[in-house]
Amino acid sequence: MQNRIHNFSAGPAVLPEEVLQEIQEEMISYRGHGLSVMEMSHRSKVYQGIIDDACDDVNEILSLGNEYEVLFLQGGASTQFYMIPLNLCADDKVANYVNTGAWATKALKEAEKIGKKIHIAASSKDKDFTYIPKEFSISENAAYVHITTNNTIRGTEYKIDPDTNGIPLIADMSSNIMSKPIDIKKYALIYAGAQKNIGPAGTTLVIIRKDMIDKINPGLPTMMDYNTHIDKGSMFNTPPCFAIYVTGKVIRWILNKGGLKAMAEINREKADYIYNILDNSDFYRGTVVKEDRSLMNIPFRLPSEELEKKFIAETMEMNMLNLKGHRSVGGCRASLYNSQPMKAVQDLAQFMLDFEKKNK
Ligand SMILES: Cc1ncc(COP(=O)(O)O)c(C=O)c1O
Repeated sequence: MQNRIHNFSAGPAVLPEEVLQEIQEEMISYRGHGLSVMEMSHRSKVYQGIIDDACDDVNEILSLGNEYEVLFLQGGASTQFYMIPLNLCADDKVANYVNTGAWATKALKEAEKIGKKIHIAASSKDKDFTYIPKEFSISENAAYVHITTNNTIRGTEYKIDPDTNGIPLIADMSSNIMSKPIDIKKYALIYAGAQKNIGPAGTTLVIIRKDMIDKINPGLPTMMDYNTHIDKGSMFNTPPCFAIYVTGKVIRWILNKGGLKAMAEINREKADYIYNILDNSDFYRGTVVKEDRSLMNIPFRLPSEELEKKFIAETMEMNMLNLKGHRSVGGCRASLYNSQPMKAVQDLAQFMLDFEKKNK
């Protein structure tokens, strides 16, 4: 076994070692077929089996039943910022957004850019995005309400699946998808870049409730139209074959670990290691309100920027990488996605305690 670092990156992020090993075994000749998945025609039976299995596993893990379409698209979650209003907000409708940080702001700006009427249904900008707003004021004639269920930069997370009184709820779940059970019926559309919780960069999972398909605006550019990808099973053009293959394996890995309930318990246990330190320290400081803090991304500050620099430098010497906070907010951030091993979190917690003792 080769030595691996502890990787606290916000994304692309750590993948399960078991999955990497399986990929390694299948790299030169996928299951005896004599070629790797990267070299395979996406029109082959073997590849069709791979993408079908990935879709089935998404269906199983989220209990989608017959009501949703599962798509693996390209262009990242950022392309969904544009595709959602383009497809699902008619000209006489209003796109509602909850603004909980940089990603939510980017999403609503894309709707504005293409001339859609938007309404901010709630915002936590007044307190520098350090909390999740609990109430909405949804506009008249709303096309949908868009939320960001986990705010990767600020470290806040919805703890409930909000109620929008029948208005379609759309969620950017890029940084907490499949990290816990959700009430899927509440959501009209979910999307997530794979590269945090469920795979490598290169594919974006989009799950769309079938009743939304009738609402898709007519006459859209082919690649921007959800209908194109639904009709062709995510294979209108060459899909990101390898990224979908790896994502399928990570989702299978989550299922084999006991599914979303088991993930939620492990994720809670991992996050508690770090939050307990923040709560019992006058050296480290969490940056968001307690009730809304994320189990996935934990930002924290030290008493000074000098100490933060020293902390980052020393963690790197200990082979703990990517603990620097996002450049827009500074400080430190530990990302503890599904695939983050418990041992990495325990080692980080121990390091934090030792560092505090030495530098207080
Ligand atoms: C919550 C959230 N939404 C969207 C994005 C953008 O994703 P992508 O890089 O796949 O476009 C990110 C990336 O970090 C994110 O954290």
